[in-house]
Amino acid sequence: MSSVLCASHDPVIAPSILSSDFTRLADECRAVLDAGGDWLHVDVMDGHFVPNITIGLPVVRRLRETFPDQVLDVHIMIDNPEDYAAKFVEAGADIVSFHPEATEHAHRVAQSIRDAGGAASLALNPATPLTPVEYLAGDLDMMLVMSVNPGFGGQNFIQATLQKLRDLNAMLEGLGRGALPVQVDGGVAPSNADAIRQAGADVFVSGSSIFGADSYEEAITEIRESIERAEMI
Ligand code: DX5
Ligand code: ZN
Repeated sequence: MSSVLCASHDPVIAPSILSSDFTRLADECRAVLDAGGDWLHVDVMDGHFVPNITIGLPVVRRLRETFPDQVLDVHIMIDNPEDYAAKFVEAGADIVSFHPEATEHAHRVAQSIRDAGGAASLALNPATPLTPVEYLAGDLDMMLVMSVNPGFGGQNFIQATLQKLRDLNAMLEGLGRGALPVQVDGGVAPSNADAIRQAGADVFVSGSSIFGADSYEEAITEIRESIERAEMI
């Protein structure tokens, strides 16, 4: 297992820089990390797999240079991820999440990420069943469950994700892969982080509810407190 991912299931908050002010990207990253964010979540979009275009390899490379010790959690929402997954690791990504809906060779993509020295994560769209997990779980370092349709920040959390998380955790347990961290991405806020935690998530991606807040520290603290409330139930 990659060194950035441990099997403890301790909650991780990964602010998504998609909702940051890109003209001040380094300052924004520093600010969310100082405010208590654990990882930087970087959304790569190609205008084909999703209807939006964001950032690519040069930005990841510069983020790695500027933040040598921070976890770069790169989510590639691109067609044919086999063409780029390893390149994102070489550019500095610790973790690369890719979509099986975008490739005929999901296993090969996971392998290429690990061969390049990164942690491989499988990202499932809201309507994608858990089927690919059954045969890929042994070759993965993390799972990403999309709780909105990928492409944009600021969308509402899809409630059916909670059942999907429970089903995924049961499946991973059955496969002997219960230690695999599970990430949730989209519409995460203080108001639902407790329910998401209870359903079995470990890594909480949050963009607009952090970068849209007056105080990043308050926003991250509120998400963390919500997660902690779930632990107490
Ligand atoms: C959506 C991206 C998310 C997005 C989440 O396609 O993968 O990472 O930034 O943003 P919020 O938290 O605003 O839903
Ligand atoms: Zn994302």
